[in-house]
Amino acid sequence: RRPSAMTRNLDVSGLVDAEGGLLDRAVFTDDQLYRQELRRVFAPSWLFLAHTDQFHKPGDFFTTYMGEDPVIVTMDKNRKLRVYLNSCRHRGARVCRADMGATRNFTCTYHGWAYDLEGKLVSVPNQEGYPADFSPGQWGLVEVPHVDSYRGLVFGTWNPEPVSLRESLGDMAWYMDAMLDHDDEGTVVVGGVHKWVLAGNWKLAAEQFATDWYHVNMSHASALMVMSPSGKKPKDEIVHRTGRQYVDPNGHGAGFPVHPKNRFDARTVHDWADYPAMRERLGEARVEGPLTNGHATVFPNFSYLPVNGSVRIWHPKGPDKMEVWAWTIVDKSMPEEVREAQRLYNLRTFGPSGIFEQDDGENWSEVQSIAHGFITNGVALNYQMGMGSEREDGRHPGQTSELYSDAAGRSFYARWRDLMNTPAWHEADQK
Ligand code: FES
Ligand code: FE
Repeated sequence: RRPSAMTRNLDVSGLVDAEGGLLDRAVFTDDQLYRQELRRVFAPSWLFLAHTDQFHKPGDFFTTYMGEDPVIVTMDKNRKLRVYLNSCRHRGARVCRADMGATRNFTCTYHGWAYDLEGKLVSVPNQEGYPADFSPGQWGLVEVPHVDSYRGLVFGTWNPEPVSLRESLGDMAWYMDAMLDHDDEGTVVVGGVHKWVLAGNWKLAAEQFATDWYHVNMSHASALMVMSPSGKKPKDEIVHRTGRQYVDPNGHGAGFPVHPKNRFDARTVHDWADYPAMRERLGEARVEGPLTNGHATVFPNFSYLPVNGSVRIWHPKGPDKMEVWAWTIVDKSMPEEVREAQRLYNLRTFGPSGIFEQDDGENWSEVQSIAHGFITNGVALNYQMGMGSEREDGRHPGQTSELYSDAAGRSFYARWRDLMNTPAWHEADQK
């Protein structure tokens, strides 16, 4: 229980005009809003944690964050995935300081309290020094109450009574399946997890992956020329005309060009892919759209790129900083050399030094670097592109907009605003 006196909430209605397509820059810079975001956006939401392929036997673990809260994801003795707050109940040190690995229990390196895979406190050095009624059973690790997975992607939430993960994904699952469900075998992780720090508010990255194909031709112009066999920038009108953007009421979003010849860029992956079988399984609309290209965000801070199997979290680290964690996932059915081709393709394009990633990170840091200026901070940003263009297009589920559009961005911030203005479960005891 947090003392309610420490918690003062701001009404953010005046900062997000989702209907008019205007956004106040305080949402990227204000420290108080940032604290409120941790309480009301991150704590109640389903947050991406890891891929099921990272856990094969009891004791396999991976440490990550939910908002700024450190957590351990591990497989217990019954092979169930459990998630614990990575903080010792004694004086609060992390009980696991490794990024990933395998263990029989988590022993705190401060005074030696040890917890088993079920989170139980099983060893207390010099326990005879505590009062007789000290009961280790009451001092287990704090557990994340709900953990669930969707096609290999593991999510958790602190919300004691959440809507189900599947329900919170809604129609977004159809778009996610374009990357996750190429065949019965599902996906696995190749390589490790890349982690890097960027100057910039986490929402700049999350909203871009939800809504922004618009930047591609300008920001990535040189990268596109390098990638193209002709050495010229591809014609963007075709992409503009044919692509769609998925606009989810829960703040998720995805954009993708639509073309019968959409293909994996990496040659080896392209040659291996069984397009007719995927057409059969997922339908034309998905193979010609979100299967091989585009961008997506699952609200709030999980994003992915289907063309290279990049999945990533934008970990918030204060209003001005984010830590990007990125995995490469591939079809389990891919032979070794195809997996390797996909891994290398992803590294070249969207690894920490990838030719596209560099452009994106530079933009976010640029926006953030000046946003604290007193006058600058008061000048609203424009999210009006594609205003009113959302509709049911008869081919893709839910509402879609033009590809070059801020529609999913407006919906992302509308969802953010609603959560920011809604008391979360932990405020129930407050006025
Ligand atoms: Fe963990 Fe003391 S802080 S044992
Ligand atoms: Fe980009």
